[in-house]
Amino acid sequence: MSSQRSAGERRVTIRELLEMKRRGEKIVSLTAYDFLFGRLVDQGGVDVVLVGDSLGQVFAGLDSTIPVTLDDMIYHARAVRRAVKRGLLVIDMPFLTFQISPEETLRNAGRVLKESGAEAVKLEGGDEESTRHVGALIRAGIPVMGHIGLTPQSVHALGGYRVQGRDDVQAARLRDDARRLQDAGAFAIVLELLPSALAGEITAALEIPTIGIGAGAAVDGQVLVLPDMLGLNDTFRPKFLRQFAGLADQARTGIAEFVRAVRAGEYPDADHSFE
Ligand code: KIV
Repeated sequence: MSSQRSAGERRVTIRELLEMKRRGEKIVSLTAYDFLFGRLVDQGGVDVVLVGDSLGQVFAGLDSTIPVTLDDMIYHARAVRRAVKRGLLVIDMPFLTFQISPEETLRNAGRVLKESGAEAVKLEGGDEESTRHVGALIRAGIPVMGHIGLTPQSVHALGGYRVQGRDDVQAARLRDDARRLQDAGAFAIVLELLPSALAGEITAALEIPTIGIGAGAAVDGQVLVLPDMLGLNDTFRPKFLRQFAGLADQARTGIAEFVRAVRAGEYPDADHSFE
């Protein structure tokens, strides 16, 4: 693990994120799962780099995030850590590594921080039981980002990947969850797939920043899954997603050109061979 930084480099801190909310400055976050993209994301000036358990789908080709393990997360987190010098590095706690007891949550989150060198962990859920576990981490000095709304690890219980908080009961529960997470000491909360008005209301009621994905513009920041927004995972096209680049097309073109050039005997030519 390399956490060496040269003089003059400044890491984004949790305190700075809170100040950004107070100043009304948007927080920008993206996921990363490996060294090269971690470096690009960090060089791009992203404030929060998230090693999301979405790696189960976009990296490993799984149907959901549920099978992702703690060892998977630590492996990817260590690679991204070597690249990220400026952004705050946050690691997702995968399914069943933070639900069983506060002690087990602490042991697992402690492993993530010790073995990856990241600054914080992210946990899905905001009910009373989960926030008890969040509290245990905060007391041990482990910063926690919450995540409510569509929580992908509960996809089966939620009946699919759908917008949450559309009815009054669900909306009230989400408002309570957000408040509970703030009271437990979370430093920020991801709001995933919420109606814009509800996300705006939750954001206005909290002192800690909200970071939305599919939650409209009235939140304190935005996060997207990197391969989705770069158009690398180009068949995934939910309503909230804008593709900011077309990397899948560029990759296909490059690969096709390599195949053609090798078969035609054009590559390698003299310029790309040793005397
Ligand atoms: O796993 C992930 O990438 C996430 C983001 C979508 C917030 O949780």
